[in-house]
Amino acid sequence: MIFSPIFLAVALASQVLATSTKSAADDYFSNLIPRTKYALLHETTGPEAGAIPGVVAAVIPDDARPEWNVYWVRDACLVYDVWLNQLVSQGDTSLRPVLDDMVHVLVRSQQITSLAGNVFTGSLGEAVYYLDLDYILDSTARIGSPADDTQPFRAAILIKYADWLLTQNNGTWVADNLWPAINLDLQWISSNWNESSWDLWWPPVWGGSYWTASLQYRALKAGARLGRKIGRPENVVGYDSRASLILDYMQTFWNEKEGYMVETTITDVKLGRSGKGAAPLTVTIYNFDPTLGCDAKTFQPCSDKALSSLKYIANEFRKFFPVSQNIPEGDPAYMGFFLEDQFEGGQPQFFSSFNQAEQLYDALATWHILGHLEVTNVSLAFFQQFNSSIATGTYSASESTYTHLTDAIREWADAVVVLLSKATPADYVLPMSIDKDTGEPFGPRGMIRSLAAASSAHDTRSGMIPPSWASEHNTTAKSGGATYGQAAGQVVLG
Ligand SMILES: *[C@@H]1O[C@H](CO)[C@@H](O)[C@H](O)[C@H]1NC(C)=O
Ligand SMILES: *[C@@H]1O[C@H](CO)[C@@H](O)[C@H](O)[C@H]1NC(C)=O
Ligand SMILES: *[C@@H]1O[C@H](CO)[C@@H](O)[C@H](O)[C@H]1NC(C)=O
Ligand SMILES: *[C@@H]1O[C@H](CO)[C@@H](O)[C@H](O)[C@H]1NC(C)=O
Ligand SMILES: *[C@@H]1O[C@H](CO)[C@@H](O)[C@H](O)[C@H]1NC(C)=O
Repeated sequence: MIFSPIFLAVALASQVLATSTKSAADDYFSNLIPRTKYALLHETTGPEAGAIPGVVAAVIPDDARPEWNVYWVRDACLVYDVWLNQLVSQGDTSLRPVLDDMVHVLVRSQQITSLAGNVFTGSLGEAVYYLDLDYILDSTARIGSPADDTQPFRAAILIKYADWLLTQNNGTWVADNLWPAINLDLQWISSNWNESSWDLWWPPVWGGSYWTASLQYRALKAGARLGRKIGRPENVVGYDSRASLILDYMQTFWNEKEGYMVETTITDVKLGRSGKGAAPLTVTIYNFDPTLGCDAKTFQPCSDKALSSLKYIANEFRKFFPVSQNIPEGDPAYMGFFLEDQFEGGQPQFFSSFNQAEQLYDALATWHILGHLEVTNVSLAFFQQFNSSIATGTYSASESTYTHLTDAIREWADAVVVLLSKATPADYVLPMSIDKDTGEPFGPRGMIRSLAAASSAHDTRSGMIPPSWASEHNTTAKSGGATYGQAAGQVVLG
């Protein structure tokens, strides 16, 4: 290589670009995150938000939009998950009181007789309540409820807290108080996982959902492990074999030809769904577990299928939104929910847009732990975005090709964050979405799913690795000079 002045100039220019993208993302998060943390703890949660302790309202409550002043269990679980990761992996014990409130609310929600039924006939699937946890009678306010992601998401959250309490020598409390509630949801999943249900988007469709199945798989696997750990093996007989069936079912959603995970069994545009949407992207984040490496069956963030899916779906959304038309090919663009979305005009979403950055921060962390990355024929097109001459094969962290690829992928993820900074209101309180024509903030202010996605992307960008849900052991992945500890949830450089 001859270091001609032109080569040096180009190299320096791209270096400056990378540095400026990184520092723009740093600057944005330094303003956004403190404001977001405050909004989640004080403006959407508990008595300060007009809710009972532990309830997180779907948005900062606003009398002008009463339809949003409700407790959607799914959206609240996104927030609980952020707090749990901050407690478990970042040691923020100041969150323990609000997490204890969360336990009370989640356990109570199981027992509330609602239009979904009672605890024997369906209340476990009720997806939405008033802020005092009263059930909702207005059927238009609970379209999409009951939803079968309620039980597994609630169980996964309670299991994550239980796992942490075990590290605090609090197993008796877990066994006596948390386990009966967790196992109530697990029993339901084990018996009913193969039933159709409403999916997570609006208006919902009735069918099988990749998101729901993925959460069911995770809840049963993690629940079986926890049950054995606390000495209740007789409670979890059959959960692992049921989970294997669900894992097989999850593989049926893969579109081999185009290389993306279809999100629902309803794939008829006349019924409002092509099956192309962002829910599988969200799965990569919530079922992320670096002890599983880049496993494609569980759709880990760095798996070839998840990377291919990200590229395919991101490009579909790029074509879909007018505001993305001027974004150069190769730069990140906005993500929405699903391609046929008409709700509130069908706008780009902060939630799924942040998710695409988070998937890559998670992937980068896993490659770092493994000490290598693999390019397969399935992920080739994804990697070609960052090196057009890349070939299939395994690239070790000591190779310059690995460094070049991972630097470029990190910069792309940071560019997602910078893109979203342009759509952020001056007060740094994220709304629901982004106007698809003008790129301006759009929709209800302080929507918790936007706030949770921003927090989670920020935390993973800073090196936070969520605790393992799959591993029987507390330290399993070890190579490439890095060790992953489940209890600490952190990468330790050796
Ligand atoms: C990790 O596992 C070992 C063996 O089971 C146990 O002795 C140790 O206390 C665990 N550490 C933590 C932090 O949970
Ligand atoms: C166990 O954890 C629960 C929930 O945080 C708490 O209320 C209880 O005091 C803890 N018990 C012990 C022995 O630490
Ligand atoms: C139930 O399982 C069968 C066989 O795997 C599958 O074809 C069907 O779509 C599943 N239904 C739901 C709702 O999970
Ligand atoms: C990748 O290779 C596998 C096995 O060699 C093959 O079954 C699959 O169709 C290939 N996929 C693509 C996208 O080329
Ligand atoms: C791109 O990939 C090819 C093939 O592996 C490799 O030879 C080349 O050095 C890579 N380019 C950069 C800039 O890393």
